[in-house]
Amino acid sequence: MSVHATRMPSSRPPSGMSRFFAAKPATCIEDLRVLAEKRVPRMFYDYADSGSYTEGTYRANTADFAAVKLRQRVAVDMRNRTLASTMVGQPVSMPVALAPTGLTGMQHADGEILAARAAAAAGVPFTLSTMSICSIEDVAENTDRPFWFQLYVMRDRDFIGRLIDRAKAAGCSALVLTLDLQILGQRHKDIKNGLSTPPKPTVRNLINLATKPRWCMGMLGTKRRTFRNIAGHAQGVTDLSSLSAWTVEQFDPTLTWDDVKWVRDRWGGTLILKGILDPEDIPPALATGAEALIVSNHGGRQLDGAPSSIEALPAIVDAVGGRMEVLFDGGIRSGQDVLKALALGAKGTFIGRAFLYGLGAGGEAGVTEALTIIRKELDVSMAMCGLRDVTQVDGRILARAPYGSPVKAAGAPDSTR
Ligand SMILES: Cc1cc2nc3c(=O)[nH]c(=O)nc-3n(C[C@H](O)[C@H](O)[C@H](O)COP(=O)(O)O)c2cc1C
Repeated sequence: MSVHATRMPSSRPPSGMSRFFAAKPATCIEDLRVLAEKRVPRMFYDYADSGSYTEGTYRANTADFAAVKLRQRVAVDMRNRTLASTMVGQPVSMPVALAPTGLTGMQHADGEILAARAAAAAGVPFTLSTMSICSIEDVAENTDRPFWFQLYVMRDRDFIGRLIDRAKAAGCSALVLTLDLQILGQRHKDIKNGLSTPPKPTVRNLINLATKPRWCMGMLGTKRRTFRNIAGHAQGVTDLSSLSAWTVEQFDPTLTWDDVKWVRDRWGGTLILKGILDPEDIPPALATGAEALIVSNHGGRQLDGAPSSIEALPAIVDAVGGRMEVLFDGGIRSGQDVLKALALGAKGTFIGRAFLYGLGAGGEAGVTEALTIIRKELDVSMAMCGLRDVTQVDGRILARAPYGSPVKAAGAPDSTR
């Protein structure tokens, strides 16, 4: 059992950035996005704020939340509310984890370490991506809470085996195995921007970097500027700077459910399968013995034309039938979105861009700000739905569940179906 994520928000004195937010409060995630767009170099901002191909699924992930309606209840005692819950059996101060995101250390210098610290202080899990800038060891050495590690399976199984062992040695308390990215969906902007890490010194990049002094100063002050989980650990990696070329070269397109069992056995701990979107994938997912799955379309970055995550969620909850934990990500930009995902049957949620925007806007304080915004929105919205305990949230708080919600709470009126 992990000691992870039980602390409530930090009582540390405010840093310069926290003071910035105190003086000029961000009132919603959109405020953080606008600030991040100003402060983060174009290629890395675009890398975060984009989806694959037409970006149709990316847009649907956020837009489809609007179709889920909440029931407004009145005259209910609202005192003593709690957002505390568990995700894969681990205590969380609210059911919102930080999703694994590649190149987080390019949104802000040492981004993974800063985000992990903000998550620990807020009492929620942080998930480190295989494609992170800061390595597993960097994060473990610079934080005092266990975090989760996300694994991509690559052709070099010796390397993957060692990566799993490194996550174990660092005390990671869950392994998130991503199944929806063995080949890469194209993001037009990344190609047009010549995305690389560190950025190549082209005239275009230098002009853009000249407008981002804060980011540049941060980068000059760190040695962490490439994929440090990979560099020096994987053999035959020729061009680490080119993410797409490297993915084509290294990611294993032959991955099947048998490999998932190999990962499970090698890891031996809590396993979460990420990227499930179709009910027909539930039986093999259950057969792996994993503790949980994440309903996810990779933030609209892979199969363009796939349903939004919130549209896909009810059918997955139905197919799972309580036999494993169902977690959720995709399009969450507010506490209301979290509440809707919980009402449609998710036990917990992950946020990707919502925390990346905070990180780009203001480093650790920006991630804290993002989590604070979502926490407050979740708390107030839950109360207005007439509930005081987040673990009690279910289909009864939905005025009208789209996509045929399977969340048939006991005594739920017909209007909730
Ligand atoms: C910039 C960026 C990088 C990502 N990198 C990874 C990754 O390395 N591994 C992974 O499993 N998912 C990755 N994802 C997907 C996220 O884990 C998550 O599924 C997605 O961001 C959720 O959607 P949201 O950003 O709308 O919250 C990435 C997403 C973004 C935006």
